[in-house]
Amino acid sequence: MRILVSFIAFLLSLQFLSAKTAIDVIPCPASVVVSEGKLSMAGARCKTDSRLGKTAVAAVKDFEENLFRASTVKKGKSGLVVSFEMASEMSDEEYSISVSEKTVVGKASSLKGVLYAIETMKQMLPVAIYTGAPAPKEDWSLPCVEIKDKPRFAYRGLLLDVSRHFFDVEQVKKYMDFMALHKLNTFHWHLTDDQGWRVEIKKYPELTQKGAVRKETIIGRWADKKGFDGTPYGEGMWYSQEQIREVVDYAASKGIEVIPEIDLPGHMLAALATYPELGCTGGPYEVCRWWGVSKDVLCVGKESTMVFLENVLSEICELFPSKYIHIGGDECPKVRWQSCPHCQAKIRELGYRDDINHTAEHYLQSYVTKRIEDFLATKGKSIIGWDEILEGEVAPDATVMSWRGTKGGIAAARLGHDVIMAPNTYCYFNYYQAKDQSKEPLARGGHTPVSKVYSYEPLPDEMTKEEKSHILGVQACMWSEYITDWGTLEYMLFPRLSALSEVQWCEPENKNYQTFIRKMRHMAKIYEALGCNYSTHIIN
Ligand code: ACM
Ligand code: ZN
Repeated sequence: MRILVSFIAFLLSLQFLSAKTAIDVIPCPASVVVSEGKLSMAGARCKTDSRLGKTAVAAVKDFEENLFRASTVKKGKSGLVVSFEMASEMSDEEYSISVSEKTVVGKASSLKGVLYAIETMKQMLPVAIYTGAPAPKEDWSLPCVEIKDKPRFAYRGLLLDVSRHFFDVEQVKKYMDFMALHKLNTFHWHLTDDQGWRVEIKKYPELTQKGAVRKETIIGRWADKKGFDGTPYGEGMWYSQEQIREVVDYAASKGIEVIPEIDLPGHMLAALATYPELGCTGGPYEVCRWWGVSKDVLCVGKESTMVFLENVLSEICELFPSKYIHIGGDECPKVRWQSCPHCQAKIRELGYRDDINHTAEHYLQSYVTKRIEDFLATKGKSIIGWDEILEGEVAPDATVMSWRGTKGGIAAARLGHDVIMAPNTYCYFNYYQAKDQSKEPLARGGHTPVSKVYSYEPLPDEMTKEEKSHILGVQACMWSEYITDWGTLEYMLFPRLSALSEVQWCEPENKNYQTFIRKMRHMAKIYEALGCNYSTHIIN
């Protein structure tokens, strides 16, 4: 008898396991309880509480339309009404899905919750739901299930560098679709750098004429000594303000906020080449043709440079509704400032001296950061800076983005600053995905396989509860020095983006790398339905 009971329990557990595998959703929802039975979605109509807003209503309509086109069963034919209801007690990004043998109910309190509920449903259906391609033979049913879900971190970001290589509006929108697929909510747009200025500034139109174009581009890496390609790059490769607004609106419809970055006071050669008077030596300068860190940076001893920055940032603030403006601050060598009469006069005026930790020039950079912070505060904006802004004296309200590992982020949280973790060791998608680099597209270096991205824990034990409360979230970065085209970008993004999304979304107890790998089989089908290039190292 005991054996029989055990055998039945074993069979039940098998059934449970097989039912559970139906929920191959990435990132893994916080709570999934599968029960017996299923319900076909073919022929369903969808209904949305209008209090969830017009954009949510439109998103549900889109879902309904694709369900109809892909299942090929007319809307309303089955009599099933999939209803998206307002649940004002839920937090902004929270949602639930409840499927019985007769009903499907999604609940949320905001656009984002609705979008996430739809995304989760889509991942539980055949992949044709993504394209609307007819697939009448597929099983359009959902298992009976109760899903309750919300993210671990409020900030779930992804950076795109469009300076080194440019990606057009349609590609940027596609990037946003990939983010939405994984429930990311923040697009960090790296718009300016040494190798090209890519955002229209009406007051300084030459920035996108002269400053967008480099004479040629280095072939491979410095060490390869392959020279330059002799081909100008960047003519017309910039976004008009109208296009910027179009992207910001598109992002908002996907529940994504766009944070622009104007990297200062280093990484400014494109501006210096346009306006040499912004530099310490007066030039001549050229838009950078190689990858690395330029010694030439903005001359911050001159008041006219600060006026330039304020004018640029005023237009940026008008374009982007985000709370934050990213002001860069990384990799700013101090050698020009050391011998510049303007910068040295400013250092004397402010009374800065070298101390055991920092030079007077580090404090000069802190002065710039603080001035920009104060200026942006008058526009209702807060700043984010790379972890170099901790050198000298960190601006009082700055949020720190930790890229040189996690040390900077931990130190900033200890000082009571908010932090976004983007450690290059786990989150730089321009690093190699495979150990054997010979078969990979040329990349920045490093080795960041999917498993390493997945293993990242943003709240290490060494942090106190109070310090952990300052970690707003996690971001990955796609620097484009070696990412020359869209296909390579997709390859570098997938499947690491899928791994990242579980780091950003899931509580540690809901993360499991083996389960993730299994779920990747379905996600790979989604990549394929969307026509995406992806690395197959973990999928094969
Ligand atoms: C950076 O990678 N320089 C932020
Ligand atoms: Zn100077």
